Amino acid sequence: MEKKIYITTPLYYINASPHIGHAYTTIAADVYARYFKLRGKDVFFLTGTDEHGQKIEEAAKEAGKAPKDFADEVVEKYQDLWEHLKIEYNKFIRTTDDEHKKTVQKIIENMYEKGDIYKGEYEGLYCIPCESFCLETDLLDKDSKLCPDCGREIQVVKEESYFFKLSKYADKLLNHFNQNPDFLAPKFRASEMINFIKGGLKDLSISRTAVDWGIKFPLNNEHSVYVWFDALINYVSGVGYLGDKALFNNTWPCDLHFVGKEIYKFHTIIWSAMLLSLDLQLPKKVFGHGWWTFEGEKMSKSKGNVVDPYKVIDDYGADALRFFVLREVPFGNDGDFCMHNFTEKYNNELANELGNLFSRSLKMVSKYCNHKVPVVEIKENILKEKSQEVINEFEREIEAVHFSKALNKLWELVRFTNKYIEDEAPWKLAKDDLNAVYLEEVLFNILATMRVIALLVSPFMPESSDRMLRQLGITEDKHIDILWKELPQNISIGEISVLFPKIDI
Ligand code: MSP
Repeated sequence: MEKKIYITTPLYYINASPHIGHAYTTIAADVYARYFKLRGKDVFFLTGTDEHGQKIEEAAKEAGKAPKDFADEVVEKYQDLWEHLKIEYNKFIRTTDDEHKKTVQKIIENMYEKGDIYKGEYEGLYCIPCESFCLETDLLDKDSKLCPDCGREIQVVKEESYFFKLSKYADKLLNHFNQNPDFLAPKFRASEMINFIKGGLKDLSISRTAVDWGIKFPLNNEHSVYVWFDALINYVSGVGYLGDKALFNNTWPCDLHFVGKEIYKFHTIIWSAMLLSLDLQLPKKVFGHGWWTFEGEKMSKSKGNVVDPYKVIDDYGADALRFFVLREVPFGNDGDFCMHNFTEKYNNELANELGNLFSRSLKMVSKYCNHKVPVVEIKENILKEKSQEVINEFEREIEAVHFSKALNKLWELVRFTNKYIEDEAPWKLAKDDLNAVYLEEVLFNILATMRVIALLVSPFMPESSDRMLRQLGITEDKHIDILWKELPQNISIGEISVLFPKIDI
């Protein structure tokens, strides 16, 4: 059986409701997953929630709820948002699931038997918002005791702890990075990881005695598993590492872990070392995307400037949001969510270029061809040639996780088709009966290109793509491999309606 394409998002902390940042990682993973489905591949897309640890324990306490009850409520918000954003995941894992908890405990036992876990004492600094241990030498300002990653206050911790022998894997990790140049993506993130390892890896504290809300540490009931060690294991527990060997063998190694840049180290160094300890293959790629600010400022609950995805969805639709976040900045770079740019992109590229292509072409088909896809002899033509070129380049870009470049290519085709319409001017051809056959050929070429556009755009904008295909009269077509001849002839086109109503500025 052909291995599934296995794609993951991070597990989201459930201390607060989801915002645009969480939506971003998930949309990207969904677009990638949908693209492979469009290519006829079997995909497994895993997402879920990270529910243990001190941060959640404190948030639940503040809300006056038991952590699990608190988690149940926030999890619903995540699932509801994913539904609104048309996220098609295969499994939603929660770190409080029994299967996951058992897997974590089994894995720790195995690592202990292998000699990769030992008991000691952790004395140092801990950042609760990041749930991470950090070194005195990393601090930006020693006196203020602020976390070097998030800038918030850091705690001093001294407790008995079990350690994972992270340091043992330093050379193997460097070797792996060296021999697998596609593993660290985008490429500009590689040097920071390599330098971090070369600076000397310390063993990792993986159990807490001060935290109650966590998976019980299997070797000692007084300890709970460190929340990151617990959460990272989801990538294997979620695909049957313990209970469903067939699924596991058919998915692992993961093809792509989508993560934000701030958690890149956890995924490329700690998770990789854990996999090496388990004698499992490493994922093929870990992609660290950038961060969004809002109107030039860091989004934060206290500032009240967190972009609410529901508001954008209600006002402009889920597709417009999915499109904008991947169109606006190259995936990997930081971006600023600015309503002015959003409106401009929407009006120019969606309403004017793509929307108009559909409405003007379909109106002409309605008028000149009696609302039917004309029956023509398919000939070579420039639209067909351009479509093929764009399909090839679009595929290359999207497989390299260059979402905005893939969209650039696709818009090249949208603009090319609009230009073709201007050049051929069907409204002029229609004036002379001698041109009747050629007019139908021209309109067929346009419709066939619109089908290609509707299919290529579908990973990004699934609802709009369905509407486009329906307007073309196509009901059962979700496969891009067979190109031109697949546009059925002599079928009635659907009802014509505005795809992207223009936003008044
Ligand atoms: N629970 C950990 C991940 C464990 S994975 C085994 C965690 N959760 S998180 O909820 O804080 O963040 C998850 C994702 O949201 C990350 O990919 C992060 O980059 C993304 N974002 C959160 N805020 C963001 C922005 N403002 N901009 C872009 N993405 C950001 O970390």
